[in-house]
Amino acid sequence: MVAIGKVKVSQLIERFGSPLYVYDEDILRDRIKILKKSIGYPNKQILYACKSNTNPSIMKVFREEGAWIDAVSPWEVEIAFKAGYQSHEILYTGDNVTDEEMKYCLDKNIQQNLGSLSQIERYGKMNPHSHICIRINPDCGAGHHGHTITGGPESKFGIYFDKIDKIKSLASKYDLKIVGIHSHIGSGILEVDEFIKAIDIILGAAQHFKTLEFIDFGGGIGIPYRPRDHGIDIAHFGQRISQRFSQFCKEYGRNLSLYLEPGRFLVGESGTLLVTVNNIKETPTHKFAGTNSGFNHLIRPMTYGSYHEIVNCSNPEGTPHKIAVSGNICESGDVFTQNGKGIEDQSIPEIREGDILGILNAGAYGFSMASNYNTRPRPAEVMVRDGQARLIRRRETFDDLTQTLV
Ligand code: LLP
Repeated sequence: MVAIGKVKVSQLIERFGSPLYVYDEDILRDRIKILKKSIGYPNKQILYACKSNTNPSIMKVFREEGAWIDAVSPWEVEIAFKAGYQSHEILYTGDNVTDEEMKYCLDKNIQQNLGSLSQIERYGKMNPHSHICIRINPDCGAGHHGHTITGGPESKFGIYFDKIDKIKSLASKYDLKIVGIHSHIGSGILEVDEFIKAIDIILGAAQHFKTLEFIDFGGGIGIPYRPRDHGIDIAHFGQRISQRFSQFCKEYGRNLSLYLEPGRFLVGESGTLLVTVNNIKETPTHKFAGTNSGFNHLIRPMTYGSYHEIVNCSNPEGTPHKIAVSGNICESGDVFTQNGKGIEDQSIPEIREGDILGILNAGAYGFSMASNYNTRPRPAEVMVRDGQARLIRRRETFDDLTQTLV
């Protein structure tokens, strides 16, 4: 990779500095178009799960492509407003939601998705005679790592699918109209069958509610991180979901709206974290290329043992060597090349000090999970398209890091 969106990597670094998050706008647009096209069922809506990346410029691109927003905190809602989304285009799916959050959403006129019986009770007292969506835990989950499985008995999310009677009696107690059923079973799923298994249970639950307007099957669509990974067959995914949903609507007697709320699938592959190598050293077991970034900027390898392919943008034709790529944070886990059990070298064209490396597929849960650990600022973010690059978030400064001190 010597260029992103037809802009040379060396020019990007010269102009915006290093480390740097770069997003390719064409990939953002392509992914949402592919997903929409795959779903033949006409009455559908994509809600972008903006927890994966809340840069408003990215959110604006998805709005232009017709997306709505899945928001999980009042601050995500505020960013969505900044990006131009209207209240009716946002579904609020908080977890362990406080009364203040519910009140905030009511004030802003935002549809809430309720994830516990206690929440229905509190919401009902606060706002009887209104419309709600219910998050169901369908008793099964899936995901690329245990931390990202959000269905089944080990998951804290949603109301268990066998509590339908309790949901109904609370709803009738407060005259709440259940207009939506929601479920999200996990993140980073590459098997269509995992989705269908959950969808069957959700639809089984949904038939008990007669006032529905939409059913939201959540996000979770995986992307291929390793070169050998097969991506999800998105045409097949869309076709199976459409088929199953159409059949349900026929039985139900009305054509409901089909919602999906992906994050990673829409934004993951568009993002690259560019870093600069400033140190090369060897131990008896590894050669390390040390860089000017770390898990403060991309925590996925350390948290989930996630693989992110790394390319040498400065020496793409060099002879590949096995090497570990590390960061500048003061913890041994600060290595970009690992697999959950330990360090896993990658084969990368010869790395020299000063080289720029591209850490691929970093658009989802990269910047949004970045921190200021070790009191280091977070990188700038840049969007590229057709040979043009524009800054979409400036690099943090020391003042940014200290402005909340009193
Ligand atoms: N909807 C809900 C209710 C969610 O909790 C999530 C993700 C999504 C949608 C979007 O899931 P996606 O399509 O992006 O898989 N930090 C982890 C992923 C955590 C996902 C949390 N919830 C990672 O880096 O792999």
